[in-house]
Parts: sequence; structure tokens; C-alpha cells
Amino acid sequence: MRCSGMIDIAKAAETIKSGGLVAFPTETVYGLGANALDAAACAKIYAAKGRPSDNPLIMHISDAAMLDGIVSDVSKQAKALMQAFWPGPLTIIFQSVPRGTIFDTTGIRMPKNPIALDLIKAAGVPIAAPSANISGRPSPTTAAHVAADLGDKVDMILDGGPCDVGLESTVIDCSGKVPVILRPGAITREMIEQLIGPVDMITEAAANEAPKSPGMKYKHYAPRAKVTVIIGAAADVRKKLDELPKSDKIRTVTMQDMGGNLDAMAANLFDMLRKCDEDGIEEVFVEGVAEKGLGTAIMNRLIKAASYNVLKV
Ligand code: TXA
Ligand code: MG
Repeated sequence: MRCSGMIDIAKAAETIKSGGLVAFPTETVYGLGANALDAAACAKIYAAKGRPSDNPLIMHISDAAMLDGIVSDVSKQAKALMQAFWPGPLTIIFQSVPRGTIFDTTGIRMPKNPIALDLIKAAGVPIAAPSANISGRPSPTTAAHVAADLGDKVDMILDGGPCDVGLESTVIDCSGKVPVILRPGAITREMIEQLIGPVDMITEAAANEAPKSPGMKYKHYAPRAKVTVIIGAAADVRKKLDELPKSDKIRTVTMQDMGGNLDAMAANLFDMLRKCDEDGIEEVFVEGVAEKGLGTAIMNRLIKAASYNVLKV
């Protein structure tokens, strides 16, 4: 594995073109990339991550022309979303052009991170990339996170520093009549509805019964430590945190500890969860936030990390 300070886009693009795996930064989280049009290369992604084979990969493009031959229908709403939010942290699911895969839809995103865009351009093919973590671990927001999970399984890691957003992209299914948000992210429901009107959003409870997005079935974002999310009025949450027994195996984390606002909390959340494991923490209690705007995405990841263990005070 080569992990250099210099970002060698040409070498990384060659690696992608010759069927290898390159981890690269995006504005959301680091991705584990392979040539999306090379089935054998994509199979390596599944093997490296330990990802279940029924969980489809999203494709990353650098130019809307790359949709040609891959998706069969672009709805009016999808067009509006692409125009407003690409490049950026929004994955759109389209009907696929039939090409012998087991999935009849394809998720596509145009990332904003210049390293990601340069890599896709230089490779000249769409790059399939899930988050570059071992399946079930918190998504990686630094090159060091990638190296810790997949260091010996990737050909190259491009180090672009910490990711801006820190949470995976919003996923919206535009393959049916009414668009459905399958995963909340930094492009919020509010931003989407302001642009294209009402959309649906799959709740976790409904997703547990009949997962629309295969990824919803699997345990996600889980650190080894037991996580409890505490929700309630700020003063009550603080009081509860203060009352907890003091121990070097127990950690309490407030929004203030993660930067004091939602953007900072999103950017630091996965790193916080990984640090708990590194430090041998057994129990972590985290202050929850209101489920609106970016708070919806933060709580979505946090509640999964906590395996639905939420304490209301
Ligand atoms: O921000 C991101 O989206 C990152 C960066 C690297 O771009 N990628 C990422 O990929 O989070 P992944 O594979 O970890 O998550 C993609 C999610 C999964 O839950 C997957 O099940 C869902 O999108 N998904 C992908 N294709 C789908 C499809 N055709 N229909 C429904 N859900 C799909
Ligand atoms: Mg993932």
C-alpha cells in the first residue's frame, strides 16, 4: 500500500484503469474506489470491505455526460436536483439501462472534492465507491481511518485531509413517481423540498420491515463501545451526563465537545466514535440534537451507532 503525502492523481487513475482499488477523499467521507464498469474490480471492493453482495455500490461521476448509457430515465425532479446540488453530497438513484447486473436502479453522485473530481476525470470512467471502512464500522473521515480499516487491502490511499461534511451523502431515490429520501445527509430534506416540493423519507422503523435501500438492513456506524444517545432539554441532558459515574471506561460527549454547532458535530462524529474504541472506552453517552436540518442526518448516524439505544430525560 502506498500512502504518500503527495497526491499522485495520474498514478491513482492508472490504478483504477488497471482494475485496482484506490481510496480517495470526498467532501462527505473517504471512498473505496474501483472502475465502476469493471465487474472484477468492483468485486474486490466487496471482498475488501466484507460487504454483503446484495448491497449495491454508488457510482461517482465528474460530468453529467457520464450518465449516458448507465441510467435510462432522468426525471424532471432529478434534473432539478442535479442542477442545484451537483457537484455535492447528494446521491440520486435512477432507473438503470439494463446491463446484466442484479440491480435495476443505480445510485450516482458527482462529488465536490477536487481530488475526487480530478481522479474521475483522469480515470475517464465512473468510479464505484462505498465508504472506505470495514462494513459496519464508522465511515472514514481521514486517510488514517482508511489505513486503520483497509490499509493492507487497497493499492493506494489519497490523503486529502479531513472531510468537510463528515457524514455520507444524502441518498434520494428518483426512480419512481415520488422521490424518496433513503438516507439523510448534508443536503437536507428542507433544502430538497424547497426546490422540488414534497418528498417522502423512509423512516428507520419502516426500513427495518422492508428495506428500500439494501444498506439499511445492516448494522452501521457501530463502534465497539456501547453508545447511549441522551435527548431532552439541554439542561436536563447536562445534568444526566454530570450524574454518570466517573471512570476511564466511560466517556460523555456533548455537542460543545464536538465543536459547538451542527456542522462541526457532523464533521467530528465518526472520528469521536473511532477514538472511543482506540481509547478502550466501554460506554459512551452522547448528547442528541433536534431532528431538523443537518440534525436529522446526525441523529440518523448516532442512533444507529447506539443500536437504537436512546435515553430521554
Ligand atoms: O457520501 C457517500 O455517499 C460516500 C462517498 C464515498 O461518496 N459513499 C457511500 O457509499 O456512503 P455506501 O455504499 O457506503 O453507501 C451508499 C448507500 C448504501 O446504503 C446503499 O445500500 C445505498 O446507498 N444504495 C446504493 N445504490 C442503491 C440503489 N440502487 N438503490 C437503493 N439504495 C442504494
Ligand atoms: Mg457505507
